[in-house]
Amino acid sequence: MPAFTATAPGKIILFGEHAVVYGQPAIAVPVNQVQARATVTPNLWGAPGEVVIQAPEIGLMAVLDELGADDPLGAAVRGVMGALQVPRIPACTLKVSATIPFASGMGSGAAVSVAMIRALAGFLGQPIDDGTVCALAFEVEKIHHGTPSGIDNSVVTYRVPVFFQKGLPLETFSIGKAFTLVIGDTGVRSPTRETVAAVRARWQADPAGYERLFAAIGSITRTARDAIRGGYPTRLGPLMDENHALLQMMGVSSEELDNLVRGAKSAGAWGAKLSGGGCGGNMVASCDPQRALEVQGALEKAGAVRTILTQVGARPDDDPTGGQPGDLGPQL
Ligand code: PMV
Repeated sequence: MPAFTATAPGKIILFGEHAVVYGQPAIAVPVNQVQARATVTPNLWGAPGEVVIQAPEIGLMAVLDELGADDPLGAAVRGVMGALQVPRIPACTLKVSATIPFASGMGSGAAVSVAMIRALAGFLGQPIDDGTVCALAFEVEKIHHGTPSGIDNSVVTYRVPVFFQKGLPLETFSIGKAFTLVIGDTGVRSPTRETVAAVRARWQADPAGYERLFAAIGSITRTARDAIRGGYPTRLGPLMDENHALLQMMGVSSEELDNLVRGAKSAGAWGAKLSGGGCGGNMVASCDPQRALEVQGALEKAGAVRTILTQVGARPDDDPTGGQPGDLGPQL
C-alpha cells in the first residue's frame, strides 16, 4: 500500500459570516496560497489497525484509539472508516500539517479535515466523492464550531467560489472579471465556536434586532454575487464596508480588525471587512490590482502579522482529483 498525500486550501468569507448560521446566504472563495496537507504512510511493523496521528503544529502525537469522540482528527478518521465501511485500517501513520493560520477565520479546521479524509480514502484505495468528503468534514466542523453553517467544509471541498445558503443546494457562480483581495491577519487567535456562541446569546436577547441585521447582510450578499457575476468588482467595496459595519454592530469586530480595515481603506482599497468568526483572526480588502502592494504595506503598518495577496477568478484554481499519491496539490 503506497503512501498517499492530499491537500486542501484555506478559504476567506467575502460576505455573510454569522448571518449564514441563521439561514442567510454567504459568499466564500478558496485561498490556495495557504494549504492543509495530510500524508498517510504504511507502518510495516505496526499492529493491525494501529493508526498513529501526528500533528506537530498542535503538539499532537497519538494513537487513534486514545482519541476521544470529541477529538476532531480522530473523528475525521472514524468518519472515513464508517463511510467506506472499513472496520480496521492497515497500520499507518497519518501526518497533518497546515500553513493556514489556526483559529483565524481561514477555514483551517475544515481544510485539515478534508485533506485527512481524502488522504485516508486514497491510502485505502477507495474512491470517495466530493459530496461524501463534504458531509464527513461537516460532522467534524460540529466539533470545532458547535453549530456550523457548513460554508467552510463546502468551499474547501469544492475549491471554487461558493454562494452558500444552509439547506439549499450549493451554488457556485461565474466571475465576470477577476479581482484582487488582500488578506490581513491580526495575529489574535479567536475560536469561531466562541464568537458564534456570543452572537447566539445576543440574538436570543434581541431576536428582532438581530434578524434585521442578518437580513441586511443577506441582501448585501445577494447584491455582491450579482456584482461579481456581472464583472463589476469595484462595486464590492461599499458592500464590504457596509457588511463590516453590520458585523461591528453584532459585536464581532475588534480594535485590531478595525485598525486593519482602516489601514486598507486609507491605502485606497475599494472596501474592507473582517472575515470569518471575528474578534480577531483575519480581515479582507478588495482593491485595484495596481494598488495591492500599497494595501499590503498599509496592513503591515497597521499591525498585520501576515498578509496574503490572492486573485479571484484569475484562472482555474481547482484540482478536481483532490490529491494524488505524492501530489502537493494545487498551488497558485
Ligand atoms: O471563522 P471561520 O473561518 O471558521 O468562519 C466562520 C463563519 C461563521 O459564519 C461565523 C460560522 C459558520 O459556521 O458559518
